Amino acid sequence: MAAPRLNAETRGIVAKLKTYADRTLPNAKTMPREVYTSQAFQELEKSRIFEREWLCAGRAESIPKAGDYLTYKIGDQPVLIIRQKDGSIAAFSNVCRHRMMRLLEGKGSCRRIVCPYHAWTYEIDGRLVAAKHMERTNRFDVGKVELPKVRCEVWNGWIYVTLNKRSASVARKLARLDDVIRDYHAEDYVEVDRQEHVWNTNWKLLSENFMEGYHLPVTHRKTVGAYFPVEDTRFAAGKADDNFTFQWFTKTEDAPVGTAHAKNKTLKGDMRRTSVLGSVYPCHMFVLAPDHLWYLSLHPLDTERIHIVYGLAFAPELMAEKGKLKARIAEAKAYLDATNEEDRFVVEGLCEGVKAPLAEPGPLSWLEKENLDFTRYILRCMTR
Ligand code: FES
Ligand SMILES: [Fe+2]
Repeated sequence: MAAPRLNAETRGIVAKLKTYADRTLPNAKTMPREVYTSQAFQELEKSRIFEREWLCAGRAESIPKAGDYLTYKIGDQPVLIIRQKDGSIAAFSNVCRHRMMRLLEGKGSCRRIVCPYHAWTYEIDGRLVAAKHMERTNRFDVGKVELPKVRCEVWNGWIYVTLNKRSASVARKLARLDDVIRDYHAEDYVEVDRQEHVWNTNWKLLSENFMEGYHLPVTHRKTVGAYFPVEDTRFAAGKADDNFTFQWFTKTEDAPVGTAHAKNKTLKGDMRRTSVLGSVYPCHMFVLAPDHLWYLSLHPLDTERIHIVYGLAFAPELMAEKGKLKARIAEAKAYLDATNEEDRFVVEGLCEGVKAPLAEPGPLSWLEKENLDFTRYILRCMTR
């Protein structure tokens, strides 16, 4: 896929962004305002970031049976992700081969994929098997039509899709992150809640917000912030990875949730109350705690609106305690809904702020190291 070229406007923004990316952390600043507000920059992101990267569409265990599906969008491409009869997961263009109607919506289960427009019918492996009243059409052979495949991989239980035919596998790109989270066995966690929302913000403002713990004691003082002493934040030593960033948070001893269940035998010592806050570029973010995880995946609608997929999953030890499950889900959901609401408040406020003529990017704290890593990532994407 040929990426559109930079024009005078985007060239200027990229040149400015480079001066920010070149700064060291003690001299680092928030990205220039235009990075968040320019339509032309956003349009370039579509081809240079979203159509080239692996993006997270949801959790594999949330579509356990053949025909279970979920839908997602990569840039302008609707994608359907569907469990196959052999247990594998496949992804296809979610667009009918007839008049190009979108096929499936949301999340659900089907025996066959039936287009809601004229009922062309596809097997769950993407082959067209029925199309009525096409017998007078020249050179039309049902058996020769199928939905275009989209690359799809599962990593630690998360389903990733990409339009990039040449990109290295997710497993290879995230190998170093695998080393960090292996002992949590996130692939065994089970999704108990999935929601989709539209927020009024730029996608990068939410990505950056998720990366830094600086805001936790303030924005989230009523929720997660109460149990995270930010002074103890730990970053990985050495050079930042090109594909992700993360930090560890060790909770206080009295944290009511987010610590290992007594039956968890894989996490040792302080790791039993440590969470990994990971961001896989560009927009899959997660908090992986010893007893639960939650994650976000974003799809930009325009410079000021994003579509969010948001999920909550429990570790198997919690899933096994069936009697407590319903109450636990309700409690965790209320807690995370409140946390998300707190984040929505700030990222929508930021979106208003970055448009202000008197606003200027301010200096970063050492706790916002990952924001500088992200600045450099955006620059790399825009100049590759
Ligand atoms: S557009 Fe799908 S059947 Fe006509
Ligand atoms: Fe937050």
